[in-house]
Amino acid sequence: MKGKFITFEGSEGCGKSTQSRMLFDYLKVKGKKVIYLREPGGVKVSELIREILLNPKNKISPEAETLLYMAARAQVVEEIIRPALLAGKIVVCDRFMDSTIAYQGYGLGVDIKLIKSIGNFATQGINPDLTIFLDLPVVSGLKYRHSCKDRIEQRSIGYHEKVRRGYLALARKEPRRIKIVKVEENKVRTQAKVREIVNALC
Ligand code: TMP
Repeated sequence: MKGKFITFEGSEGCGKSTQSRMLFDYLKVKGKKVIYLREPGGVKVSELIREILLNPKNKISPEAETLLYMAARAQVVEEIIRPALLAGKIVVCDRFMDSTIAYQGYGLGVDIKLIKSIGNFATQGINPDLTIFLDLPVVSGLKYRHSCKDRIEQRSIGYHEKVRRGYLALARKEPRRIKIVKVEENKVRTQAKVREIVNALC
């Protein structure tokens, strides 16, 4: 792949969407060919799957949940991510495979080897070149969340703690790809740390 694939990860309320958008704007101003996506979503079918996944009225088993996240991912990879990377663009994506390992694997207990194997199929073997994990204590993150919580946000603090511990374990296993950025009160200071890491890549 000629392009670069940068993903953002983190637990609820860590400011991931703000930080990834700020990076996207920065790279655009630098004259880079860059596209921005969020997961699950980014294309019509994946946005429809997102609605199913996040609607608190839906009862979804851990297995079905895992497969729905993967289906959303498979579609956005095929329609947008793969062509963009082949064309040499930078793809900035708000969440990717590590989310499934953290939320469904570490969080819900779905077999992580199985997630990786289905994930490899869904992504056609595409992996991020760089992943920024924005780390914030779970309680601080959840307090920024609105009162109307989605199906995943509604889960217990214990669940979200497992997700965070999962991310930290992933970062320990893959320190070259996954960089931990501690979230600061000031979003500009957090972004400065993100840019320093990204500038070394592109
Ligand atoms: P967002 O709030 O960051 O847009 O993400 C939507 C929710 O989906 C968030 O609670 C994390 C969750 N999620 C998973 O549980 N597994 C996944 O694979 C992905 C991509 C997201």
